[in-house]
Amino acid sequence: MVDFDKKVSRFGTGATKWYVDGYDQEEVFPLTYADMELECADCICEAMRKRLEHKIFGYTYALTEEYKGAVKAWYKKRFDWDIDTEYLRVSHGVVDGFFRIIEAITKPDERIIIQTPCYPPFLFTKREHVENPLLDIDGDWKIDFEGLKRLCADKSNKVLLFCHPHNPTGRIWSEEELRAVADICFKAGVTIISDEIHGDLLRVGNTLTPFMKLFPDGDIISCISASKSFNLAGLDLANVLYNKLHKEQLLHALGDGANPLSLAAYIGAYTKEGEQWLEQLRRYLDGNFAVLKQFADERLPKSHYEIAQGTYLAWLNLKPYGVTDSKDFCRFFRERSKYLLADGASYRGEGYIRLNIACPVYLLTDMLNKLGDAIAEYENR
Ligand SMILES: Cc1ncc(COP(=O)(O)O)c(C=O)c1O
Repeated sequence: MVDFDKKVSRFGTGATKWYVDGYDQEEVFPLTYADMELECADCICEAMRKRLEHKIFGYTYALTEEYKGAVKAWYKKRFDWDIDTEYLRVSHGVVDGFFRIIEAITKPDERIIIQTPCYPPFLFTKREHVENPLLDIDGDWKIDFEGLKRLCADKSNKVLLFCHPHNPTGRIWSEEELRAVADICFKAGVTIISDEIHGDLLRVGNTLTPFMKLFPDGDIISCISASKSFNLAGLDLANVLYNKLHKEQLLHALGDGANPLSLAAYIGAYTKEGEQWLEQLRRYLDGNFAVLKQFADERLPKSHYEIAQGTYLAWLNLKPYGVTDSKDFCRFFRERSKYLLADGASYRGEGYIRLNIACPVYLLTDMLNKLGDAIAEYENR
């Protein structure tokens, strides 16, 4: 059994999340950036250690049979998806991937469509964006298909940057929803870029259909990675899958080389041992979500919180508790506890907060007790 209850200090390791106000802090506990406060699987460290012993770290070709085989086997086993590795490339992370794709397939005066709330870098690509806000129906999140249709009708809007499962809401889009999105985009000539970085992190019992699995020859490009699933975000490696529609445009826009230690880690992750670790992680995260749900039902009943279907992120609506400025609330909470939260405004979701709950459960429980008190105090100020 993996001990996910173990607290590991990241002080002195340069962890981005722990650099608060410009310096490395020990006394805070950030639930902000999406990496986990949990150690990764032994099989990954073993694979990296083995590679390290070679002692030469020159330029490294990523698309070896070993690497492509590991990726292909993982997606076949986990999603019954036959990916075509002829159109597999690597990028230095998913953000690097979609930034480069967008530059390669659009002209400077063309725009992308995003669905808000969204992961903040969706707002910062090299192109202007237009927003098709998701609809919050009592804690469930829906796509505004009519809004999407309207935006797709504008010929300057060339790309839909899609997120599945969705950060920050945790929503897994159903096959029916994916087909409806594809129908609108394909008819309008809008390319879909599907960011599926959280695709492995589903609540136990939930399944996800990769968008491109449904439309292997459709106008879809998919960004996938082991980085969220296995806590390897600092290794800066992601995969991009496309098809012959974008062959010419993407051939030189994306890479075929990567950091040798990152490649070793991913090959180590995409193994039977890696999969067993992931299954234990998913059960642990389910336990954390159950704790959160109980807290929300008892202390935040007006918010109607529903457990995220995927990701380890919780998107909490604090508007019923008088939070109209989420940055202000996060500051308020920080003054009363060591915990740092992500303010919804940065995701275009004012009045919400985002919690990364991939941490030892006792820390989550402590944080939630303090959060409940802080929300009550904030509401009654
Ligand atoms: C939806 C989404 N895409 C991309 C990323 C970042 O990916 P990478 O670190 O591979 O650039 C994140 C990280 O939180 C994310 O949530």
